[in-house]
Amino acid sequence: MSRQRRIVNLALIGFMGSGKSSVGRLVAESLGFEFVDTDSLIEASTGRTISDLFAQNGENAFRELETRVVGELAARHHTVISTGGGLAARQENLDNLKQHALVVCLWASPEKIWERVRHQTHRPLLQDANPLARIRELLEQRESVYKLADVLVNTEMRPLKEVAQQVVHHFNSVRSRPS
Ligand code: S3P
Repeated sequence: MSRQRRIVNLALIGFMGSGKSSVGRLVAESLGFEFVDTDSLIEASTGRTISDLFAQNGENAFRELETRVVGELAARHHTVISTGGGLAARQENLDNLKQHALVVCLWASPEKIWERVRHQTHRPLLQDANPLARIRELLEQRESVYKLADVLVNTEMRPLKEVAQQVVHHFNSVRSRPS
């Protein structure tokens, strides 16, 4: 059964370090939308950090929290939603987002991602002896899912401000299209 899509929000998916939060904030500002980040929503509702949740409850419990947050986001409008890098890997989450949001995937190569995240320590999945190899492995596992986004934007060679402008352009052209 397929429900009619009603695009009133914009969701950013993509790997850790692809620029979702930075681009999302710029896009929200430009559109006059609210900005939310699924990791922050989870941290606020549980009162715990993502690292704590992974360490104490495990990744599966974290994924359940992500799915719950995605369900709650369906009630929103005029919102830019930045998602955790693994959220869209669960098909149910991606399908739910697509009901009310244009889904844009930000893309970058493993090397570029590593360059961006190497000095950060808050991502449990990258606490690995060989983080670059881990990035390559996870990216390969998720690539086919990321490509199910409505729009794929390469963030590799251009400043995030330009990426944000491109995302706004895509969103406005979809919104102004007669249904
Ligand atoms: C994850 C990405 C993180 C966060 C968690 C797991 C992933 O979010 O949700 O550490 O599975 O790729 P960011 O993409 O915002 O870093």
